Amino acid sequence: MSNKMWGGRFSERPDEIMEEINVSIDVDRHLFAQDIAASKAHAAMLAGQGIITASDAKNIGKGLDTILSEIGKGSFEFKRALEDIHMNVESRLSELIGPAAGRLHTARSRNDQVATDFRLYVRDIVDETDAALAAFQQALVDRALEHAGTVMPGFTHLQTAQPVTFGHHLLAYVEMAARDRGRFQDARKRLNESPLGAAALAGTSFPIDRHATAKALGFDRPMANSLDAVSDRDFVLEMLSAASICAVHMSRFAEEIVIWTSPLVGLVRLSDKFTTGSSIMPQKRNPDAAELVRAKTGRVIGALNGLLIVMKGLPLAYQKDMQEDKQGAMEGFAALSLAIRAMTGMVRDLVPDEAKMKLAAGEGYATATDLADWLVRTLKMPFREAHHVTGRIVAKAAAGGVALHELPLQEMQAIEPKITKDVLGVLSVESSVKSRTSFGGTAPKNVTSQAKSWLKRLEKERKLG
Ligand code: ARG
Repeated sequence: MSNKMWGGRFSERPDEIMEEINVSIDVDRHLFAQDIAASKAHAAMLAGQGIITASDAKNIGKGLDTILSEIGKGSFEFKRALEDIHMNVESRLSELIGPAAGRLHTARSRNDQVATDFRLYVRDIVDETDAALAAFQQALVDRALEHAGTVMPGFTHLQTAQPVTFGHHLLAYVEMAARDRGRFQDARKRLNESPLGAAALAGTSFPIDRHATAKALGFDRPMANSLDAVSDRDFVLEMLSAASICAVHMSRFAEEIVIWTSPLVGLVRLSDKFTTGSSIMPQKRNPDAAELVRAKTGRVIGALNGLLIVMKGLPLAYQKDMQEDKQGAMEGFAALSLAIRAMTGMVRDLVPDEAKMKLAAGEGYATATDLADWLVRTLKMPFREAHHVTGRIVAKAAAGGVALHELPLQEMQAIEPKITKDVLGVLSVESSVKSRTSFGGTAPKNVTSQAKSWLKRLEKERKLG
């Protein structure tokens, strides 16, 4: 016989090339746990509905457990000739329990099977990613609390803009990670419906209970349309979109670490644990982990693009093209997971050079806005005029090669006579950050209270677990 599954119709073996292009076991073997769980739920439901006997269902269940442990032990032989995980499992089941194995495939198809398995798999990935992001947030919040008052330069256009606190900078990524988690959770709700029982595309004439299998597999409900159930992969696309955005966040942070640790900047140091040396230049401390986080983003976005392109021309319902949905997605999710874990490690590892940060924060007339604000607040000057006056003062300081707080008061008064010595109180970087108390601003006391509220939130989440 040419093939155990469809040998009735076929008399010849497939061409070697046919087998090579068709085989998916190298990829979908990673779905073994989900495949077996879904088969167990299906068999139990078939027995519950009187479609197969209770004793057949029991043997099927036992056989599937044996297969699960064989795969766990590494003694299971995955066969390429059996194409995919579904046929590998079923074939082994028939070796183990005989003809009853053939009853498992009643009222289902590999089309609803693979859609179910992959939903379960992606759901697990989402839950792991969420936990990894929570750990990332925890690391950031711990460090933010430690550095609530550490002053650093804030940048726009990568030019020194205004002093900020390092804690505030770290908390920015906590917020991004929170939205990332929100996107995953939101998409998880839409993912969590069961395709099982949609069969090949049209449903089945057997009196199955799709609600029962959905419940057994932790889905909220069965999918309402059999054609949709077997033929969409939007759940993967949504997760890859969320993953891409998250990867971009990781990449931006990684880029900052690359910049901060460059000897030209030197605001932050990574330990030996997160740097590598050079085989030729003994002085080098390369931030390879950060660079690779930046690069892994390409894999995640690539996976999203790849699958969008696979799906864009497909008519309903299942098309074999969809077999190409898994490899890129699995690699993309793995890349993101590694990126999150590497960033978490670096957040815990990095040591800011506080003295250098403070010095850099004051460079480039970073408190010029504080001077302009003082003119507005104290002299009731319109902001546009204050901006102009401050510009002239900055130009004078620059011409004399001094910082704003080093410029003699008379020189400022020569430009604006109403300026008093009180102005000196706002020109230091510390007073600048301290004054930024508006909601969401960088003031140390804001950072401390934000960090503390995040600590509570994360702890509460862990308890609800
Ligand atoms: N290996 C296939 C996939 O991943 C399983 C579904 C195959 N269905 C089919 N009708 N050939 O998509």
